[in-house]
Amino acid sequence: MTEIRVLTDESQYRAHNTLFRRAMHWGPPTDEQWPAVLPSYGDGRVLAAFEGDEMVGTTQSFDSTLVVPGGAVVPHAAVSRVGVRADYTRRGVLSALMREQLSTLQQPVATLRASEGRIYGRFGYGLAGRVRFLRIDARKAVIPGSPAGRVRMLDPDTADKLLPELHSEFGLNRPGQISRWPGWWARELDRKGNGENRVTVVHSGPDGDDGYVRYKVTEDKDFKHHMEVEDFAWAGADAWRDLWIYLTRLDLVDTIEVDAALDDPLNWLFEDPRVVCTKDVFDQIWLRLVDVPRMLAARTYSGTESVVIEVHDGLLPANSGRYRISPDGAERVEAQADITVPVDLLGAVYLGDTRFSDLAAAKRIEGTRFAEADALFAGPVAPLCSTFF
Ligand SMILES: CC(C)(COP(=O)(O)OP(=O)(O)OC[C@H]1O[C@@H](n2cnc3c(N)ncnc32)[C@H](O)[C@@H]1OP(=O)(O)O)[C@@H](O)C(=O)NCCC(=O)NCCS
Repeated sequence: MTEIRVLTDESQYRAHNTLFRRAMHWGPPTDEQWPAVLPSYGDGRVLAAFEGDEMVGTTQSFDSTLVVPGGAVVPHAAVSRVGVRADYTRRGVLSALMREQLSTLQQPVATLRASEGRIYGRFGYGLAGRVRFLRIDARKAVIPGSPAGRVRMLDPDTADKLLPELHSEFGLNRPGQISRWPGWWARELDRKGNGENRVTVVHSGPDGDDGYVRYKVTEDKDFKHHMEVEDFAWAGADAWRDLWIYLTRLDLVDTIEVDAALDDPLNWLFEDPRVVCTKDVFDQIWLRLVDVPRMLAARTYSGTESVVIEVHDGLLPANSGRYRISPDGAERVEAQADITVPVDLLGAVYLGDTRFSDLAAAKRIEGTRFAEADALFAGPVAPLCSTFF
């Protein structure tokens, strides 16, 4: 019989971390790594599955916030560290962990990154945001014109102190972006791993600091230099353009790799738009609407017509019901439904990455008036989450 317990004791956190890491085929945390990992165990609810006295499964939800379409920021659970010991898989351990986690979450929405695409739909998570992996030919990347503001390099200690503040100011710039918890920063700022050659620069415009980028350049055996953009946040178009001017004018760099939103207009910066190559598009945000009425009320809608959506949620039945969505907002109703949708697929359309009509074309949902629903949920920008967890 699988029993789910909430861990609060520091002595069990390392076993939790070791089990999760082993499930991912990684080694246990070393004594050197552990001091940077431990703080993250204070940032949310830590669950473990036990068979008798043996820990056999893990998960954790970090306390965070999420930007939704329209710009509101709502409490959010960042679900991570999901693992089941290999000798206990396919016996319902994850299902027991997920049921317990979902029924006790305090936040109205949860997101996670999925190791595989077939696992989380059954628990009500929908694929709500994708990311483009871009490679830029830096030797040919010419941005005409001069910068509008000033870029300054930070020494590592100043960067470590300033980054959490800068991220909370500019990082929540799109639907899907999340705030970072103290333990996330503890790991990010730990320089014992491979962070020694990171560089951070900050952009300032007429109103002060308004963007930053953190990057790392490595040299391969053919003496080619590759830049990885690790963290990039900005408040306005000038900061975004100036930071790209800075990155593409750096000496010696051959290629630049960066994660970007599907609609990132980066190629339009360059004289030759072909210098930006999309190497891959992959799923990023898996979103679970934990409190459907609250989350439908939290975002804004466009369009002109209203649509009634019937939601089915097998794990959290209080969410099941009909909701009228109109340009003025969302309300629970008894009216006849235009569209019937399981909660995972409502999660998939929630941030605007996917449309109802795409789901209907794929025979995943039923109903009518998909174009009107598409118009309501459409947003001006594609979602992105620049925080890996
Ligand atoms: C993925 C993992 C957590 C699943 O745990 P588990 O205890 O085996 O899952 P459950 O037994 O509760 O399975 C629930 C359902 O999901 C399915 N499922 C589980 N893992 C799956 C996978 N990797 N691919 C496809 N389906 C999967 C099961 O077949 C089962 O389906 P059913 O209800 O139709 O029978 C576990 O295999 C694991 O730790 N894998 C390695 C680490 C990992 O990928 N972690 C997730 C990080 S996001």
